[in-house]
Amino acid sequence: MSVPLIPETAPFSAEQRAWLNGFFAGMFSRGPNGSGVPRIETALTPLTILFASQTGTAERLAKKAAKLAGKRGFAPTLLDASQASIEKLSQENAVLVLASTYGEGEPPDNAKSLLTALRAASGTPFSKLRFSLCALGDSKYAKFCQAGKDFDHHLEKLGAQRVGERVECDVGQDDKYTKWLDTALNNIAPAATPSTPAAESEEEDDDEPKPFLAPVLDVHRITGDGSAKEVNHVVFSLKDSDLTYAAGDALSVLPSNDPASVTEILATLGCDGEEAVSTASGEVSLRHALTTIYDLAKPTAELLALLQLPTDTTPFHVIDALLATPTAKPKAATFIATLKKLQPRLYSISSSPAAHPDEVHLTVGAVRYETAGRPRAGLCSIFLAERALAAGKVQVGVHANNAFRLPENTDIPVIMIGPGTGIAPFRAFLEARAATNAKGKNWLFFGDQHEKSDFLYRDEILAWQSSGLLTRLDLAWSRDQSEKVYVQHKLLAAAAELWSWLESGAHLYICGDASRMAKDVHNALLQIAQTSGGLSPEAASKYFETLQTAKRYLRDVY
Ligand SMILES: Cc1cc2nc3c(=O)[nH]c(=O)nc-3n(C[C@H](O)[C@H](O)[C@H](O)COP(=O)(O)OP(=O)(O)OC[C@H]3O[C@@H](n4cnc5c(N)ncnc54)[C@H](O)[C@@H]3O)c2cc1C
Ligand SMILES: NC(=O)c1ccc[n+]([C@@H]2O[C@H](COP(=O)([O-])OP(=O)(O)OC[C@H]3O[C@@H](n4cnc5c(N)ncnc54)[C@H](OP(=O)(O)O)[C@@H]3O)[C@@H](O)[C@H]2O)c1
Ligand SMILES: Cc1cc2nc3c(=O)[nH]c(=O)nc-3n(C[C@H](O)[C@H](O)[C@H](O)COP(=O)(O)O)c2cc1C
Repeated sequence: MSVPLIPETAPFSAEQRAWLNGFFAGMFSRGPNGSGVPRIETALTPLTILFASQTGTAERLAKKAAKLAGKRGFAPTLLDASQASIEKLSQENAVLVLASTYGEGEPPDNAKSLLTALRAASGTPFSKLRFSLCALGDSKYAKFCQAGKDFDHHLEKLGAQRVGERVECDVGQDDKYTKWLDTALNNIAPAATPSTPAAESEEEDDDEPKPFLAPVLDVHRITGDGSAKEVNHVVFSLKDSDLTYAAGDALSVLPSNDPASVTEILATLGCDGEEAVSTASGEVSLRHALTTIYDLAKPTAELLALLQLPTDTTPFHVIDALLATPTAKPKAATFIATLKKLQPRLYSISSSPAAHPDEVHLTVGAVRYETAGRPRAGLCSIFLAERALAAGKVQVGVHANNAFRLPENTDIPVIMIGPGTGIAPFRAFLEARAATNAKGKNWLFFGDQHEKSDFLYRDEILAWQSSGLLTRLDLAWSRDQSEKVYVQHKLLAAAAELWSWLESGAHLYICGDASRMAKDVHNALLQIAQTSGGLSPEAASKYFETLQTAKRYLRDVY
């Protein structure tokens, strides 16, 4: 009995035909007693879906891709980039890659080791690998989708065959991902089952909890008199919603625009706001559309073109562009066609559901600054500070972050470093550790400018210290003395003890400012590994890379 061959007339390319013939050769075998009856062994097409993700978006999209791939006759395997290696990838035939970008054009923490290894590798270890890559990023960053571009480049350089063009998705461009997935699954390898359109399947299958219009229960300032900062504690009700979360997750919050900004834009357009405009959610008034649907911050290239403004003198906000061209007066419909949609903002959840059933809490720093002689307000942080209570309900969603979790084994010690609003997930962690009577030790590093006015959650933290839940608390007040004292100074001062916690298996967490604090804390940790651990600089770097791969060094930084 010979294996059936795909005839040349079949609707496949030569390459696909060769692949299918090889595939069938492995799938058909002799029946019992050499009867010659072909027996089909359930052989689906293997497909690996690799994700490089910091806050879970690429991971969620990878899971969606796996679901659809399963329906299309693939046997998908999800691969966290921290578990991938050159050797592992060189054994694969077909890989889809979802890669987001962090820092300033850097890969997410879970993909740092892999990208370093790809950069250092040579030859063509991936000569049998076909791949397709979807990069996720945010065009407000200078190095848009850089990590995705880097993975794409290095995979190809090491001999892998790119199938289709790399796709780069900006925030909110889910349609681009859906199209990419469709094409990638059609082309990466011939699958056993006819295709299900990705969009259709997504509708049935989307396991992301739907956003919920959450009642706002409380917004109150938790920085004291005299503080240079306004930080608000915000509480939403999740009663009667399908939303559930775990400590470590983030909440997405969809703000609406400031009515005063909308009125100013309407005035420059010469509109009264009652003009009807058609949007994806139907026909609404221009005022409603500008308040709840469109982003009035950074002007798009399309708006600049409409107003005939040069792109090299990008105005800061949409209103600046309109004020710079007072005679332009575009029509309402033409104007809104150039705007991007409002995007939700993420906030690390600062409550544990065990301590606050049916509620979710946030710790939100109000963003206010001045540019081009105008005071500016961060959209969502100021919406929460000033308008959310009056709005009554706000659209929220849970953004699962599996990369930032307490250890499952509650005996494991944890070290938490979270100055400023970076305290948020650690309040949730400590509440969760208290609720589960966790035996593991807890060490918190917190700090801000002044002890008197900026000690967020002071009473709770001191009570946890008194009760023994907090084994150790180190506080860094940066402006209570002439020289700056930051959390990393406290880490260095406790180097020997910190090293012994790490060596005894502690999990290490950092949350808060990405651009300065997280980098400086990392450098302090490298120093500690050298001074207290006796490691060389290279071994110290490797030590924390290994902790990251083992999911013992986790960061939630922004
Ligand atoms: C995973 C994650 C977790 C987060 N958790 C928290 C949290 O727990 N608490 C918290 O407060 N925030 C948190 N953030 C940040 C939060 O998502 C928002 O980015 C923040 O609230 C600002 O949003 P906004 O809409 O108020 O400001 P926007 O309207 O988005 O404005 C912010 C933008 O304004 C510009 N800008 C800001 N300051 C200046 C300045 N001085 N000069 C010039 N331009 C400036 C920058 O372009 C900046 O990107 C988190 C972010 C992420 C990704
Ligand atoms: N991506 C975004 O859209 C976004 C939005 C909001 C906030 N953020 C970031 O989130 C951070 C959190 O804001 P926050 O006000 O809660 O806290 P923060 O600015 O991080 O301040 C908390 C404490 O950290 C200190 N600090 C400053 N530089 C440091 C460094 N290099 N290493 C260690 N500590 C340092 C501060 O001291 P001093 O002030 O005395 O220097 C202060 O005592 C902001 O800094 C901002 O960068 C980002
Ligand atoms: C602190 C921070 C830094 C970021 N840096 C970049 C960047 O340099 N380039 C970019 O294209 N996107 C950048 N992004 C946007 C993320 O890549 C984007 O939000 C992505 O969807 C996140 O995916 P994830 O949830 O899988 O990590 C950054 C986001 C944050 C919060």
